[in-house]
Amino acid sequence: MANWSRTKINSVIVAAGCAFLMASAQTARAEEAPYKVEGNKVDSAAFKGYQTYKRQRCETCHGQTGEGSAAFPNLLTSLKTKSKEEFKTIVLEGKNAMPAHKNNKAVVDNIDGLYAYLKGRSDGAIPAGELEELK
Ligand code: HEC
Repeated sequence: MANWSRTKINSVIVAAGCAFLMASAQTARAEEAPYKVEGNKVDSAAFKGYQTYKRQRCETCHGQTGEGSAAFPNLLTSLKTKSKEEFKTIVLEGKNAMPAHKNNKAVVDNIDGLYAYLKGRSDGAIPAGELEELK
């Protein structure tokens, strides 16, 4: 009887532990997202990133909304594994046929927004196509 109740208590503790871990993993994910999105509206930083992506011609190589092309990498796949730091280094310093953008003020000033926009696209949270700024 003593053994039985100990087992029962243990499983309650394990279940509570799992619930706690799941809850904290969810909170961590929510905190990690570097963007806010509601439908086709995104927060101002991600919106500036979206504009920068188009205006600074990332799209000519990486596709209209990051999906890549035959010759150029799909950034939506890249950002599933690349860290923000790795992203910044490649965009600013360049790599092989990828041009460096460290002398492009619009890119340097909006690098966090660019990452936020593309990360949101990569997560499947920010839709392809026209976006508006979330006010
Ligand atoms: C002239 C075409 C071209 C333009 C313009 C361009 N890129 Fe690239 N980009 C490339 C190529 C080619 C690579 C692959 C480099 C390699 O690994 O050899 C690349 C790689 C990358 C990577 C790393 C992908 C990976 O999986 O390794 C990121 C992130 C990236 N580009 C972001 C951007 C952003 C943001 C812009 C606009 C500011 C941009 N690129 C503009 C051609 C381009």
